[in-house]
Amino acid sequence: MKRCLDDREINMTILLADLLAELREDHRNMATMLDLLERDLERIRHSEEPDYELIHDILRYMTVYSDAVHHPKEDLLYGAMKAEDPSLSAGLDKVEPEHRELAILGETLRNDVEAIASGATVTRFRLVADMTDYVERLREHMSWEEGDLFRRADELVAAESAMFVAISHLDKLDPVFGPEREHSFANLLQNIKDLAES
Ligand SMILES: [Fe+2]
Ligand SMILES: [Fe+2]
Repeated sequence: MKRCLDDREINMTILLADLLAELREDHRNMATMLDLLERDLERIRHSEEPDYELIHDILRYMTVYSDAVHHPKEDLLYGAMKAEDPSLSAGLDKVEPEHRELAILGETLRNDVEAIASGATVTRFRLVADMTDYVERLREHMSWEEGDLFRRADELVAAESAMFVAISHLDKLDPVFGPEREHSFANLLQNIKDLAES
């Protein structure tokens, strides 16, 4: 028998829809980061000098926001989905390991760029391989989430599920795309603007 939702549960349902909207917006922003990385990847492939400072800024953003806020929010969402409706849980066990893998790939690339900045030798082959791995794996991961996992969550929203995802401890503002932009990302913001206008 379907029970009636109380006010608190209705608010929780709204929260799930809002969370999905936020995660989708994060993906659009992350795709912009990957477009910028790909632009530099092409430069390296053509033996041109990439903008290492920009690559480093992108990876710093991915560490402080995507790895530290976006992915943990998704982990909570998927955990709650699984608890709410086990029939929606196929493949969800793979998500957390993929998030860890993406953080490691990002750290590897960041280490390459920091090594270059400190004067150490990093071969073009290795830099291209590490950048390609990062861009491809993150694109694949986001595409899986958008084409499959987020759609399963949409089903819960459509079914007016009383599902609640407690994300308050992760309620941090995006330092690049949020309302309070961090000054240290000024160069990255200018590149995003230039990319949009190109
Ligand atoms: Fe994810
Ligand atoms: Fe995601």
